[in-house]
Amino acid sequence: MCVVRDMISPKKYAKAAKVLPKGFKTANEFFNYVYNDPDMIWMGQNTNHLHDRDGVMEAMIASVQDNDYCKYPPPEGFPRLKELVMEDLGLGSEYDILITAGATESLYLCANDILEPENNTITCDPGYLIIDNFASRFGDHVKSVPIYNEECGYKLTPELVRENLDKNTKLVSLVDPLNPLGSSYTREERKEFKDIAEDHDIYLLHDITYRDFAHDHQLMAEVCPDHTVTVYSFSKIYGMAGMRIGAVIGVPEIINSIRTIVVNDLGTNLVAQNGAMAAIESKPKWIDRVKNTTRQNQDIIKQAVDQVDGAHIAVYPSDGNMMAIDMIDTGVTPREMADYLIERKIFAREGSYTSKKFGHRYLRVSFSIPTTQVEYFAKCFLEGMEALKGSK
Ligand SMILES: Cc1ncc(COP(=O)(O)O)c(C=O)c1O
Repeated sequence: MCVVRDMISPKKYAKAAKVLPKGFKTANEFFNYVYNDPDMIWMGQNTNHLHDRDGVMEAMIASVQDNDYCKYPPPEGFPRLKELVMEDLGLGSEYDILITAGATESLYLCANDILEPENNTITCDPGYLIIDNFASRFGDHVKSVPIYNEECGYKLTPELVRENLDKNTKLVSLVDPLNPLGSSYTREERKEFKDIAEDHDIYLLHDITYRDFAHDHQLMAEVCPDHTVTVYSFSKIYGMAGMRIGAVIGVPEIINSIRTIVVNDLGTNLVAQNGAMAAIESKPKWIDRVKNTTRQNQDIIKQAVDQVDGAHIAVYPSDGNMMAIDMIDTGVTPREMADYLIERKIFAREGSYTSKKFGHRYLRVSFSIPTTQVEYFAKCFLEGMEALKGSK
């Protein structure tokens, strides 16, 4: 007798349009390859390789040596770490916080908590596509607004949000500064977002993963506390991407609601939390050095890009630690350039990783790496342009 059972099949989420580099069958295989090459220059994931002996690594080593990892941490995060994140943001006791396994978990929790099945979310293209993916799991659909043009300043403006919202819009994603372009908001725009959020009872998902690289940054939480959830990461400015740690911050109503749907019920990596506390405490010692180096590094890239006919940087200077090099008029595709650079031991990402509509136009490179490596990139980029144009 044959028993008919429902098969478990892949879910139909809005998956990021990932194009795999030449010769790799899966994204995991590719990442494992770049990870295992000690000479690979890491310009493909906006990670930060500028930390030295700042006390972060030392705090984590001490935690391991103390055998801390045998225990579970307090499930919402060490109170001292929660306090430090709030102090770092300058937010007071009217806000609440949960420590998470990275901004990624925070984004997931926010989408799960805020969206009902009939709700839609407004995001932008280019943008951080995992947010579209999470929002499409819990809500009805995602409106990914095209922003790759000068008219809107390469960002999701308040006008664009107004044009795209409807009665079921519940969430607007503001990645600020924006991955992959490095655009960010003015004080006037933030005020307009507050009005939109309050008038339409919408939540603003303020992803501030790249905040500390920006010249001037203001928290939406300060402007519009009741309608903002703030997503915080230790991966970029603190250089701790591999430790997987972050936070989500909001008024108690929001955070209490998120408490009911937590995933990591037994808490976030304890060694990472010890590193994170040292990272915030030591920040005044290293922040200027890290910021100045990233600024200087983007100048080096700009000088190289300016030498190539048909290439330009979409947003310059970038307020993040990454930028998009537009190459549509060079005759060389971002994919060809990314494959060429891998051969020269530089990991960069073609635009399709962060855009469905404009990915064929740009290469995304991050530059929080030692300046000598950026100089090597500039040389390889110019040589690659010559070689790839010549091969056509
Ligand atoms: C906008 C944005 N949010 C979140 C993340 C992921 O952060 P985390 O490593 O803390 O999960 C990234 C990583 O690139 C990002 O670009």
